[in-house]
Amino acid sequence: MDRKWWKEAVVYQIYPRSFKDSNGDGIGDLRGIIEKLDYLKDLGVDVIWLTPIYKSPNDDNGYDVADYYQVMDEFGSMDDFDLLLEEVHKRGLKLILDLVINHTSDEHEWFMESRSSRDNPRRDYYIWRKPRDGKEPNNWLSRFSGPAWEYDERTGEYYLHLFSRKQPDLNWENPRVKNEIFEMIDWWLKKGIDGFRMDVINFIGKAEGLPDAKEPDSPEHYANQPLVHEILKDLHEEVLSRYDIMTVGETPHVTPEIARLYVQKDRKELDMVFSFEHVYLKDFTGENFIHFKKLQQRWSSLIREGGWITQYLENHDQPRSVSKFGDDKRYRKESAKMLASMLLTLPGTVFIYQGQEIGMTNVEFSGIDDYNDIKTINKYREEISKGRKAEEVLKELQPVSRDNSRTPMQWNSSIHAGFTTGEPWLKVNTNYREINVENELRDPESVLNYYKKLLVLRKKYKALVYGSYQPMTDDDSEIYAYFRELEDTKLFILLNNSGCQKDFDPEMYNIKKSRLLISNYPLAEEGIGKNLLQPYEARLYIVE
Ligand code: NOJ
Repeated sequence: MDRKWWKEAVVYQIYPRSFKDSNGDGIGDLRGIIEKLDYLKDLGVDVIWLTPIYKSPNDDNGYDVADYYQVMDEFGSMDDFDLLLEEVHKRGLKLILDLVINHTSDEHEWFMESRSSRDNPRRDYYIWRKPRDGKEPNNWLSRFSGPAWEYDERTGEYYLHLFSRKQPDLNWENPRVKNEIFEMIDWWLKKGIDGFRMDVINFIGKAEGLPDAKEPDSPEHYANQPLVHEILKDLHEEVLSRYDIMTVGETPHVTPEIARLYVQKDRKELDMVFSFEHVYLKDFTGENFIHFKKLQQRWSSLIREGGWITQYLENHDQPRSVSKFGDDKRYRKESAKMLASMLLTLPGTVFIYQGQEIGMTNVEFSGIDDYNDIKTINKYREEISKGRKAEEVLKELQPVSRDNSRTPMQWNSSIHAGFTTGEPWLKVNTNYREINVENELRDPESVLNYYKKLLVLRKKYKALVYGSYQPMTDDDSEIYAYFRELEDTKLFILLNNSGCQKDFDPEMYNIKKSRLLISNYPLAEEGIGKNLLQPYEARLYIVE
């Protein structure tokens, strides 16, 4: 198997708006990130991924880009960016950016020109259609509620927006769009960044004729269309292959079979993609966890076929993993550590989201006014307009809202968790006095210190990166056990995905002699409770 730095890397995702504010305006910024680079180095991650930092009116917090060549005012300047890149590299870390090229902001110069008249030279940069029987050109729905089309009075046509109406989709059929975007990508790579996470990259090609979908919310005519592959191949050949970088595609609605078309090495498209199949699970109980294991098995086969995969449990679109998959009440620390043990021992490049390393939890907001996430707010309005009760709708949105993971990073127990000296743009989770970096750095048993140890092990044992993956407990919804093996190193991972004690029989796994490398309970180290797993216990052994 080819060895690559990005296969061995652990990526730390920063949502800059919520990471660290350096100037007291309540919004995180690039200088704030620079202040925390030593923290990240000490944590032991290798690559930093920043969600969009480009100039944006922030209808969708930066995923609506108004200028790809400028930094968002609130985040700082291009000089700040250059300094950040330099400081990152100085510490032996790497930096990747979010590439949002399915759509731009409606405030991007291209769109302003495009909408100005039907014969503007940039009209075809976006997807415009005449009304059909006085209504939308097809039945597609926006992923942020309502139709995917917006009528524009000025020219009497509709434009397509798969996300908010302030995020018009680019027309990738147009070679001029392609040229301009490729040029922009090259511009950032020349600056020396180390790669891209590509936002909904599998949506960029739309089916010819934009036919109606069978179900209005089905992505069948815009996800994984043949055009995407054409574009990605050209992008690889003309731009990406000239640099030693990593690329990871964000690809909703992708099975391993479809993913293979993006990541199989010989196809020369992307290095890896994010699967969504596991985050679509509501939690990790019963059948869901069995399904999760099956997904691991199926996705890991891509590696054998010459591709590569990713592992993640959180990001800025997902709730906090300890709340969703663990137990954020009684066993917060234990379950956060168990999930960490799993994440960092499964095959694939690992992505950690800011705050995950201290076991941050979902937030409880008191009303819709506390929310910022456009998806949550649009959904709320849609449900209320159907006559539903506010209280009921809020209850449904609370565990799934994207704001759960967007609350400010909890650095210490001072006001606003040390995130800002001003008023934070989004409320800080009230549990910050207990859950914060400063406390956890001090506590040897903290989630944070456990992550650090796991990151050291991941560096030390290449079997965790390149080793085979051999699962042992397919139809058990609570015990998860697997081997990772490379040359003469064999590691055994044993996890209790439940809040109850569990017996386990080492004979079953045919382990004779082994040494414990790490566990989230001291009992295992002392040999007590050897064959009894505590709630959410995790153990990593080296088999001798
Ligand atoms: C996926 C991003 O992760 C999400 O935050 C964003 O809203 C959509 N793509 C649209 O860009």
